[in-house]
Amino acid sequence: MTDPTRLTLRRPDDWHLHLRDGAMLRAVLPWTAAVFARAIVMPNLAPPVATAAAARAYRDRIRAALPPDTGFTPLMTCYLTDTTNPDDLAAGHADGVFAAAKLYPAHATTNAAAGVTDVARLGPVFARMEEIGLPLLVHGEVTDPDVDVFDREAVFLDRVLAPLIARFSNLRVVVEHATTRDAVDFVTAHAATGRIGATITAHHLLINRNALFEGGLRPHHYCLPVAKRERHRLALVDAATSGPGPFFLGTDSAPHPVAAKECAAACAGLFTAPAALGLYAEAFQAVGRLDRLEAFASLNGPAFYGMPPNDTRVTLVHAPTPVPATVAAGPTPADAVVPFRGGATVAWRVERERDARPPPTDRGS
Ligand code: NCD
Ligand code: ZN
Repeated sequence: MTDPTRLTLRRPDDWHLHLRDGAMLRAVLPWTAAVFARAIVMPNLAPPVATAAAARAYRDRIRAALPPDTGFTPLMTCYLTDTTNPDDLAAGHADGVFAAAKLYPAHATTNAAAGVTDVARLGPVFARMEEIGLPLLVHGEVTDPDVDVFDREAVFLDRVLAPLIARFSNLRVVVEHATTRDAVDFVTAHAATGRIGATITAHHLLINRNALFEGGLRPHHYCLPVAKRERHRLALVDAATSGPGPFFLGTDSAPHPVAAKECAAACAGLFTAPAALGLYAEAFQAVGRLDRLEAFASLNGPAFYGMPPNDTRVTLVHAPTPVPATVAAGPTPADAVVPFRGGATVAWRVERERDARPPPTDRGS
């Protein structure tokens, strides 16, 4: 197939996104809302979004930060802790506040200190989620310091997730930000059940772990789970471009102020929102599978979550498009965020059907 220069697809959704709060929320939200119709919003604020009331209030703050006419819907998640109340979770789901609940193993990643210390304690929570059909989103890494950081996802699948889905045989689970061939194989092996899905980020389709050390230590390529070997990246590309099925788009766009990235103990997280859909298109184009992008970006996620796909469309235009070097997110330069690919270009531009409006420019602080 010759590569098209324009590609129209149903408006996509982002099934894994960090929006933060306050000035950072106002700085990053317009980028996502300009392209994606819905996003699963991660609850790892400080303090975490761990109750229905907190999620409702956070949703209000997100709605208030939205530019006009984006037609964007935030889908909220509950941060599971050792003391999550199943009744509060179920009430939040019944009221349309919670679309899912997120399991962070304690200390696994940014703002995960309040995460779950032992999944065995959450039996009643998982049982209720299974009963009401609320999906469990997992940050699938063990935190055992004896396990090599590059093996933590594979060990989690084996030690934690396999027993969990065996015990709760109707629980719906999303393996978030899959980074290994092991995760792809695990999800594929359960695909027939329709209850296990996985999100894949754009950056894990585009870089392998070499990118962390290219000409020096690269904090803007450091995220969790950390990028793996090339053979894992290739497995992720195969999975993402496989068409209808359990793999769907989740950017894990995770902004941190530049001061928290360019320092001795850099925070984990890549800010991909300014170029996200174009980055995915690059990865699909590289293997000649742009025709499978719509399934991954716009159809598989809604199918898993039992939601309709979006009615409107976006068009990708093959044209080098600048990615801002920084996005201001507060009063000082140290508050700014450096996007993935910042200061360079992404190969595709996105136009929205309704108004053909390009994504926002960096509007300063
Ligand atoms: C995320 C963040 O910064 O909140 N960081 C990351 O590296 N992906 C947390 C997460 O999803 O692990
Ligand atoms: Zn994340």
